[in-house]
Amino acid sequence: MTKKVLLLPGDGIGPEIVAEAEKVLKALNASEGLGLELSTANVGGAAIDASGVPLPDDTLAAAKAADAILLGAVGGPKWDTIDMAIRPEKGLLGLRSGLQLFGNLRPAILYPQLAGASTLKPEVVSGLDILIVRELTGGIYFGQPRGIRTLENGERQGYNTYVYSESEIRRIAKVAFEAAQKRNGKLCSVDKANVLEVTVLWREILDDMAKDYPEVELSHMYVDNAAMQLVKAPKQFDVMVTGNMFGDILSDAAAMLTGSIGMLPSASLDADGKGMYEPCHGSAPDIAGQGIANPLATILSAAMMLRYSLGLTDAADKIEKAVSAVLDQGLRTPDIYSEGTQKVGTAEMGDAVVAA
Ligand code: NAI
Ligand code: MG
Repeated sequence: MTKKVLLLPGDGIGPEIVAEAEKVLKALNASEGLGLELSTANVGGAAIDASGVPLPDDTLAAAKAADAILLGAVGGPKWDTIDMAIRPEKGLLGLRSGLQLFGNLRPAILYPQLAGASTLKPEVVSGLDILIVRELTGGIYFGQPRGIRTLENGERQGYNTYVYSESEIRRIAKVAFEAAQKRNGKLCSVDKANVLEVTVLWREILDDMAKDYPEVELSHMYVDNAAMQLVKAPKQFDVMVTGNMFGDILSDAAAMLTGSIGMLPSASLDADGKGMYEPCHGSAPDIAGQGIANPLATILSAAMMLRYSLGLTDAADKIEKAVSAVLDQGLRTPDIYSEGTQKVGTAEMGDAVVAA
């Protein structure tokens, strides 16, 4: 049975890192007969340049028809404008909402080979393995009404709306409880229930659902404290679940605990397990075109894709083992380089993973 995979390279380092993941997928496809059918489409700034919009209809149609999607990153200074409708990010948000990819899984794992890459002390981070579950299609990033308006006194005012319905909260909580069940049975829900009504409801619903998961130990934490605790004692967490905006910020902070955002994959799933996979980082315009971006987050995203959406667990394992092997060999892109290791570029790293 063929499995359709849509590649969306996007902007900045996106095309460079997706090319390496494509190498890995093609090599496995040939050696293992995975039956993958790869195709490529435009999104983000690349799509704006080609057709004037960040998410062309044919890209959305191809995404809907695909079994899974692998995305690089979108955005860059070239397309920075105040008009949100024609910004590259709109392409990403359009895919997430168009495909109802509400469940964002963002692991933060510290590879033992990279223990020195973290800015935190080894005893604080060694062995770190946490999973942040972020709601991705609701909350303040999508709430209506929104905009910039001019008040009667002539002053301009920006406004957004923070809203979550009960069904939206329940479906993301289910993803988080189930993830915690499969891991170490600890779930920390992050909110701001001392200030925001939306999260008072969130907390109430999670407490209610906890009765259905007696083996999961649920706790609650305010987001400001969660930010402090993540930096102070990150290993206290197993699975964290939170809304779109808090999850955006906390997952980037958690990513940095591991030393490089260039190592971290992510999955965005719909209710049926179909998903879009992408590195946690952005398009890194500061290093784009130099051949030095770390492709491992994207390659590990491809592994997650094989595991969670395509049922190809063995192939996913092979990729993850190969990544560990190249780290064992001492190969490092500049973002994870340390003395005594060997500095390599994007393509060399991709080739090494294929060889491993
Ligand atoms: P960024 O993640 O692109 O870059 C932050 C820093 O990390 C930069 O110094 C960059 O060089 C470095 N970095 C990121 N990925 C790397 C990799 N694979 N290897 C080595 N170093 C890496 O975030 P930033 O600078 O805030 O945003 C840049 C652009 O990316 C903006 O236009 C932003 O809107 C967009 N963006 C897109 C995202 C997406 O497509 N999912 C997510 C976040 C930002
Ligand atoms: Mg972010």
